[in-house]
Amino acid sequence: MKIGVLGAGVMGGGIAQVCASHGYEVVCHDISADALAKGRDVAISGRYGIERGVERAKLTREQADAAIARMTFSAEFDDLASAELVIEAVPERLDVKIRVFRDLDRACPPSTILASNTSGLPIAALAAATDRPDRVIGWHWASPAPVMRMAEIITTVETSDATTEAVCEIASACGKNPVVVRDQPMAWGFVANRVYFAMVAEARRVVDEGVATHEQVDQLMMDCFNWPAGPFGMVRGAGSGWS
Ligand SMILES: NC(=O)c1ccc[n+]([C@@H]2O[C@H](COP(=O)([O-])OP(=O)(O)OC[C@H]3O[C@@H](n4cnc5c(N)ncnc54)[C@H](O)[C@@H]3O)[C@@H](O)[C@H]2O)c1
Repeated sequence: MKIGVLGAGVMGGGIAQVCASHGYEVVCHDISADALAKGRDVAISGRYGIERGVERAKLTREQADAAIARMTFSAEFDDLASAELVIEAVPERLDVKIRVFRDLDRACPPSTILASNTSGLPIAALAAATDRPDRVIGWHWASPAPVMRMAEIITTVETSDATTEAVCEIASACGKNPVVVRDQPMAWGFVANRVYFAMVAEARRVVDEGVATHEQVDQLMMDCFNWPAGPFGMVRGAGSGWS
């Protein structure tokens, strides 16, 4: 099975790496040649890349070479047309995402599933830009994609059961833990980000009130809940891809 990834940035490169490492042929497209080169480089040699997997004995040399051979980073949008599933990871702007969903709908066969890695934009708005709303779904990954198990699968009222089942199956095959939740067009964010941002907002209030410093809030949350990073550390890490 072939998976297309649209966007080779922080998320797209990692998503391409995960899919290729779990046996899928992957074509990743970006409008920026620099992003394509960097995305490929990070997927192979980055902190969480395929070569690190070999160093840490998570992958054999043969498995790593096979995964690298399954990944193509392409400047041609039309190369996505041969994919059975396309995962969109372009910037978090509704106008940009609607435009690429229109383009994908025109370029891909009607059977292709179109998934968005949006952090919180309404999936229904993306589905409405296509003639295949039953085959449009959210697949929200967490950063860094090769490490985090989250697969927040977002369905609209029009997403078909077959689409949801197919995407959950692929997410599981990629080592992720799919959890299906409902699209909510009136609110930004689905579940993970709504709860996360409520926590970050409270952490900022605590600092603004002079109760504690950023560092103290982070330290307390790590010590209290055994988190790997506190709320401010998480914001910094997510913005940089934890590089
Ligand atoms: N960074 C995170 O922690 C994180 C986590 C989960 C979800 N997301 C979501 O993933 C999506 C991508 O985020 P990111 O952090 O990878 O962004 P990014 O800026 O690192 O990458 C976006 C890439 O999309 C490319 N692009 C822009 N327009 C394009 C087009 N029309 N066609 C093809 N490529 C195009 C850009 O050149 C860039 O390389 C966003 O919706 C974001 O909200 C991000």
